[in-house]
Amino acid sequence: MRRKLAAGNWKMNGTRASLAELAVLAKTHAASEVDILICPPATLLTAACGHAPLMIGAQDCHMATSGAHTGDISAAQIKDAGATAVIVGHSERRVAHEEHSEIVRAKARAAQAEGLTAIVCLGESLAQREAQNTLDIIGGQLAGSIPDNATGENLVVAYEPIWAIGTGLVPDLAQIGEVHDFIRSRLERRFGAGVGRSVRLLYGGSVKPDNAADIFTVPNVDGALVGGASLTAADFSPIITALETV
Ligand code: PGA
Repeated sequence: MRRKLAAGNWKMNGTRASLAELAVLAKTHAASEVDILICPPATLLTAACGHAPLMIGAQDCHMATSGAHTGDISAAQIKDAGATAVIVGHSERRVAHEEHSEIVRAKARAAQAEGLTAIVCLGESLAQREAQNTLDIIGGQLAGSIPDNATGENLVVAYEPIWAIGTGLVPDLAQIGEVHDFIRSRLERRFGAGVGRSVRLLYGGSVKPDNAADIFTVPNVDGALVGGASLTAADFSPIITALETV
């Protein structure tokens, strides 16, 4: 059985004062049977650790271990900070930083080489969905972004339609299910049933306390990657609870 995962992506939000939210989450979900991961900005990685059972992840990493890359951080540094996971290929990086799938794959490989879980994000634009190209786009991103050595421990895949991120728009449950089933079948085909069935698949894009429970009923949805609603315990806690009770 895949362990459920509630992951929060704080993006470029949060200062040390925000760490109080982690203390509340840790207390509320102390005996949780789902994994809870918070990805704060890099400035807070070290300070965010130590709120068991919460796990901490970064939002991006460089593909190199060290070197002349001003402003970047490596997977080794993320691990050294105390984190156990890193998001790679978020659409905000694919679009704003022109990170194509080959780069994402190299970053995922770098993360896995350090023993981190790579959370690889995929998603279509509205124009691509309207042109009925969603599965082609997702299939291409999946093939290009996932390294060959994937396991259920070192890989999580997040399906995040670009048009649903931060917009309040959410695909209907059948649309989410279609993409998640497709990702699952592609993973099984490439890595075999054992690994393919063990990789967790998250849905992301405007997940909120009032829609999370419905989304979590969709087969092959093993949790969520949550942006805006992960910034406060008041919003994220009910999403975690929905996942715990699914
Ligand atoms: P959102 O962001 O929940 O604010 O839509 C999701 C994400 O980008 O991971």
